Amino acid sequence: MTTDPTSTSAWSKLQGLTENFEPDFRKRFAEDPQRADRYTLSAGDLYVDLSKNFVDEDILDWLVQLSEEVGLAERRAAMFAGEHINVTEDRAVLHTALRRPATDTLVVDGQDVIKDVHEVLDRIYAFANKVRSGEWTGVTGKKIETVVNIGIGGSDLGPVMAYEALKPYVDLEARFISNIDPTDVGETLKGVDPETVLFIVASKTFTTLETLTNAKACRSWLLNGLEDRGISADGAVSKHFIAVSTNLEKVAEFGIDPDNAFGFWNWVGGRYSVDSAVGTALVLAIGPERFTEFLEGFHAMDQHFLDAPARENVPLLMGLLNVLYVNFFGAGSHAVLPYSQYLHRFPAYLQQLTMESNGKSVRWDGSPVTTKTGEVFWGEPGTNGQHAFYQLIHQGTQLIPADFVAFANPEFPLTDGDTDQHELFLGNFFAQTKALALGKTAEEVRAEGTPEAIVSARVFAGNKPTTSIMAPDLTPSVLGQLIALYEHITFVQGIVWGIDSFDQWGVELGKQMANDLGPAIAGDPAALAAQDPSTKGLIAYYRANRR
Ligand code: F6P
Repeated sequence: MTTDPTSTSAWSKLQGLTENFEPDFRKRFAEDPQRADRYTLSAGDLYVDLSKNFVDEDILDWLVQLSEEVGLAERRAAMFAGEHINVTEDRAVLHTALRRPATDTLVVDGQDVIKDVHEVLDRIYAFANKVRSGEWTGVTGKKIETVVNIGIGGSDLGPVMAYEALKPYVDLEARFISNIDPTDVGETLKGVDPETVLFIVASKTFTTLETLTNAKACRSWLLNGLEDRGISADGAVSKHFIAVSTNLEKVAEFGIDPDNAFGFWNWVGGRYSVDSAVGTALVLAIGPERFTEFLEGFHAMDQHFLDAPARENVPLLMGLLNVLYVNFFGAGSHAVLPYSQYLHRFPAYLQQLTMESNGKSVRWDGSPVTTKTGEVFWGEPGTNGQHAFYQLIHQGTQLIPADFVAFANPEFPLTDGDTDQHELFLGNFFAQTKALALGKTAEEVRAEGTPEAIVSARVFAGNKPTTSIMAPDLTPSVLGQLIALYEHITFVQGIVWGIDSFDQWGVELGKQMANDLGPAIAGDPAALAAQDPSTKGLIAYYRANRR
C-alpha cells in the first residue's frame, strides 16, 4: 500500500540532480527568456509564478515521476471517492464533498454525503437569513448585532481567518473566543450586549476542554447580564446559543436546542472544516450568497487538482516543490507572506493545516518514516514582515522557501498626489521576490562607493526560492481557491512521505495530562508528590505566587 519514496528511481535521480544544483537565477533568466512564461501557471483565478524556484525541466519531470511512483493519482482518487485513507482513525477524508454542487451524488459507507451536506447547508442558510433579517431575535426581541464564535483549532482558525480576509463583505459583526486563558472571554465580550449577542459553540467533538469551559463562561455571562437588567433568563440559552458539531448528543446535554445545532461528519477533519457547518459564523457575517461563492472557489481548485495535467497542476507542483526543499535542500521551514492585510491570519491558519497534518514520524503502516517530514510554516503580512524577519531570509544561513500572495486591486484605493499607495505596496512585493532571487553582487555593492570593509555585509547572495501567487481581487471565491490550494499542497506532501495527514494523535497526550493535573494544581499533596520535579516546581511557583 505504501511506497517508500526513498526507494523510487525518481528519488535517486533527484538526489543526483540536486547535489550540485546551482540555482543561479540571474543566469537562468538571462539564458532562457521564456523561463518566467514557461513556469507561470494558472489555477482558477490564481496566477502562479513558479519561475523563481529551484526548477528546470529535469527536476520538474523527476518530481512528477516521484508522484507517479508513490501512487499519488490513485491516492487522490481514493480521497475524492471517500475511501478510508485516514487509516489510524479508519475514516474517509471528504472535505472536497463539502463544496460539491447539490446536483452531484457521492455514496460513501452507504450514505449520499452530498445530499447530507446540502441539507445542513440549507438549514444554516435559512437560519442565517432569519438572523440577518431580524426575524430571529434575542430573548427580549432585539435583533442580533454580534455573533461570537467559541471554538479552538479548526473550529476557530478557519472561521476567524476567513472573517478577517472577507471583512469588506461583512455586514454582521463576528468575534472569536478560543483560548482557555480567561482574558480571551473577558476581552472579547467587552462592549457586547447580552440582549443582541448570538453565541456559536463550535466543536467537532464537543468534548474540547477549552471550548466547553469558554461556552459555560459565556452562558453564565449571558444569564448574569440579563438578570442584572431584570430580564428573566427563561428561554435565553435557546435564543442566544447555537452549536456546530459532529456530536449532537453532547450538544443537547449542554442545553442547546437540537433545532439550533448544525451537524457535520467525522470525515471532515477539524483543520479542513471551515467550509462545513464550522463556517456558520462566516455565513452569518457575509451571508449565504457570498458563502456559496466561497464554496465554489474551493470546488474550482478541487477540479483543477483532479483534472489539470501534472505539469500544469499547481497544487501538485507546489507540494512537490515543498518536498524538494525539505528533502533535497534541507529546508526546515516555509514562509507564507501575504501582501494583503486582510490575510493577516492566513499564516496562522496554515500552521494548523500543514503542521497538524504533516508533523508525523510514522508511515501509514506504522513503520518509521524514511525522510524528513513536515516543515514549519510561518509568516506575517508584508510589509510588516519586511521590517521584522526578512533579514534572515535574505542573508541568514538557512534556506527558507517563501510563498508571496498579492492582489491587483486594493479595497481602499488611496492616492496622495502622485502616490498610489497600493502601487507602493505591490512594489514592495515585486521588489522582495526580485531581491531574493537576484541578490546583489560585491561588484554592485562596490560600484555604489561602499567601503571595502563592509562590502561583504552588504552583498545579497540571492538565489532564494519564492513562489508568487496573484489574483485580481480577494473575493470569497478567490479565498476558497487559496485555501483549497494549500489543502491539496499538504495532501501531496503527505502522500509522498507516506504518512496519514488526517490524524493528530500528537496533540492528545498534553490534553490528557492537562486534565490529569487538576488535583495537583489544586494542591492535593499526593497528586503533587506524584509529579516529576520540574512540574512540581512549576506548580509550587504558581501556588506560592497566586493572589
Ligand atoms: O488540537 C487538536 C484538535 O483536535 C484539532 O484537530 C481540532 O481542530 C481542535 O482540537 C478542536 O477540536 P474540536 O473541534 O473537537 O473542539
